[in-house]
Amino acid sequence: MSEESPHLPPRFADLKREIAATYPDFQEHATKAWSEIIEQLEEVTKVIAAEGPDYIPQVEFSKLQYLSNEEIEKIRRRGSVVIKDVVDDAEAVAWKESLEEFIKANPDVEGFPENDKQFFQLYWTKAQVKARAHPNMLAATVWLNNLYHAKPGRVLDGVDLSTPLTYADRFRIRHPGVQWNVHPPHIDGGTIERWEDPVFRKCFEDILNGNWRNHDPYDLEGRLNARSSLYGRPNQSSIFRTFQGWLAMSETAPTQGTLKVFPDVLLSNTYLILRPFFRPLVPEDSAEILKANSWEFDLLSPDFPGIYNRDGGYAGPRPTPAMHPHMRLEKSMTSVPKVNPGDAVFWHCDVVHSVEPEHTGAGDSAVMYIPAVPFTAQNQAYVERQLVNFLEGRRPPDFPQGGTEGQFSGIATVDDIVNPIGKKAMGLPIAVA
Ligand SMILES: [Fe+2]
Repeated sequence: MSEESPHLPPRFADLKREIAATYPDFQEHATKAWSEIIEQLEEVTKVIAAEGPDYIPQVEFSKLQYLSNEEIEKIRRRGSVVIKDVVDDAEAVAWKESLEEFIKANPDVEGFPENDKQFFQLYWTKAQVKARAHPNMLAATVWLNNLYHAKPGRVLDGVDLSTPLTYADRFRIRHPGVQWNVHPPHIDGGTIERWEDPVFRKCFEDILNGNWRNHDPYDLEGRLNARSSLYGRPNQSSIFRTFQGWLAMSETAPTQGTLKVFPDVLLSNTYLILRPFFRPLVPEDSAEILKANSWEFDLLSPDFPGIYNRDGGYAGPRPTPAMHPHMRLEKSMTSVPKVNPGDAVFWHCDVVHSVEPEHTGAGDSAVMYIPAVPFTAQNQAYVERQLVNFLEGRRPPDFPQGGTEGQFSGIATVDDIVNPIGKKAMGLPIAVA
């Protein structure tokens, strides 16, 4: 376990002052936005807690093209969606079985926990490669990519939201009854970079200039060239995923080790981006902590609550009830509704998410992690490097290097990717007939 500290070097107080100096009347606007967001969170988190999993939108894959504007707006604001029947149940179940066979045939594969492996350092099994290249899976990600847009009148060169790319990640087959405490609420794809990288920061410009209601988490400006991994730590995605996602290979219901999300990306972004500029005036366990006037504007502290010093870089954001009381995480982190094999769950790249520590079900909870990745210059460059690793049986570039997969039996080859759309997504040439 590496050393971790919530205290950041003094230069980060300079960063806060630099940001404050960038926006006219920053203190006044941020303070107003801070009290407004606290009020909004109080209202919305009550509704979320009352509705529970039903608050997460669910849609049929076959109906994606026919959703009303209202339904689409709900998905955008809540930031998470269950897409049902992306893949046939039988096909998804067969993938799980083939992964189990793979593990049996290759007992040396690296996995966690060591004595009862359930989360595997495997990227290139046949099941994974085929699932990522499945035309429906790629079509679902294209639909999600197209929830993003350029500002009106702006043309973004080298971007094609309707050309999907493949980002290889791992899978889990979680056994019932086993406690997992490794995924508390967090956001992936950029830690301190959300503030430190001027391009990434652009994504949150409307929050920082006080017009938080105009903040559009789906505006591509800033996302395309954001540097989400300034410190090069492993397990930090260096590409732009519009949504993270997983494809279910088993039934999984709330309390069965499923995903939890904070289902309001406008409010969580606003609150988390402003939080480092405020400090509480009362103890964190005081009932007064929830009131806006218990907080004051502060540019002196170098800390960014929820961001941690780690491995020479930074980890987080990892909001906690103590540091981020207004999010009421104990009640607002909402389990996604029950899924069946072949259903997929996607959550916007800024959505706070966690994994249920408990799994009270009777069967495995099995998913493959497959995000939505649009064609952009930066993403395509990653896919090209990823392809080299695939061909050499090595892990993808964003992940801890070390063990190779090439030596295991049952690893996919390029011949396992048959559809042109899947080939293109992997950076493979498409044969001209
Ligand atoms: Fe995550």
